[in-house]
Amino acid sequence: MKVLAIETSCDDTSAAVVDDNVVLCNIVSSQDDIHAEYGGIVPELAARRHLESIAPVVRLAMERAELEYGDLDLLAVTRGPGLVGSLLVGVSAAQGLALRTKLPLVGINHLEGHVLSVTLESDIEMPFLALLVSGGHSALYLVRDIGDYAEVASTCDDSAGEAFDKGAKMLGLGYPGGKIIDDLAREGDPAAVRFPRGRVKSDPLALSFSGLKTSLWDFLRTRSDSIRVEDICASFQEAIVDVLIDRCERAAQLLGVSRLAIVGGVSANSRLRHRAAEAMEAVGGELVVPPMSLCTDNAAMIARTAVLRGAHGFADDELVVTSRLPLGPRWQAP
Ligand code: KG4
Ligand code: ZN
Repeated sequence: MKVLAIETSCDDTSAAVVDDNVVLCNIVSSQDDIHAEYGGIVPELAARRHLESIAPVVRLAMERAELEYGDLDLLAVTRGPGLVGSLLVGVSAAQGLALRTKLPLVGINHLEGHVLSVTLESDIEMPFLALLVSGGHSALYLVRDIGDYAEVASTCDDSAGEAFDKGAKMLGLGYPGGKIIDDLAREGDPAAVRFPRGRVKSDPLALSFSGLKTSLWDFLRTRSDSIRVEDICASFQEAIVDVLIDRCERAAQLLGVSRLAIVGGVSANSRLRHRAAEAMEAVGGELVVPPMSLCTDNAAMIARTAVLRGAHGFADDELVVTSRLPLGPRWQAP
């Protein structure tokens, strides 16, 4: 089944063609250049850039896939969650394309796309835990089957990516900050500064990073002079990674599932990968991290979700865009 998908939920304009589980092309046009000076994504600028980029990006995807529209079986588009202005550009473009080509069009949940990206160039047996860590999201899901998900944990404040980006901004390092902190941290001591590990008393699985950010702010105002930036980065990163690994370990034990996938931009983090591999090895489990091009926002994961959903029956083929779209109910302890 050949699917052309469009993804514009945040700040990357992407179009991809997937044939069952083979990526024929996956074009991503980044907007980092326009958001960098603000140290974060400006929604109005993102929507405007999507509008400029969407037609050339789709055209390029079809060229790279060496296909005509008549060769396709289905069109798919991200309908949420995300920035409404950005989502509207993608959905409108997809609707226009559907009218022109007479191809069926389905709306896809961006979070489901991330979770199912592991079925493209890697593979993992179900059930598995999926840690989604990006600029927009931080959550842990239980993936029982295609279309059968439960949210095991989510963030009550910042996402892990935001924590990295805001930390890097405070340190004057640039945007997006995750990779910069990761690189500097390689030369630093993770035990140099003890930053707090966010915890929510009422929910031991919840992710929280806002206290960490405040603590870095206080640290920089009061006592940073004598400490190398590499050590601050390594210590700050260690606090984020500790929280993520702790929740994965707890969830694996509580749910009896020792297969873990990590997706989203923060999965590029070398310390997170190392610690997650150690954690899964300790319980005789398995860790899967898809290639980077499939971890960050991309349309191939949306096309793949449409393929899998097509085979299992679409639970939701609405095209209404929405900023909030949970992936399954909250997991309840049996
Ligand atoms: O999935 P993604 O590309 O898109 C958004 O959700 O926006 O994730 C981007 C996030 C940014 O916050 C960026 O700082 C973070 O992923 N990131 C990293 C690394 N590479 C990218 N965070 C930590 N370590 C990295 N190596
Ligand atoms: Zn995403």
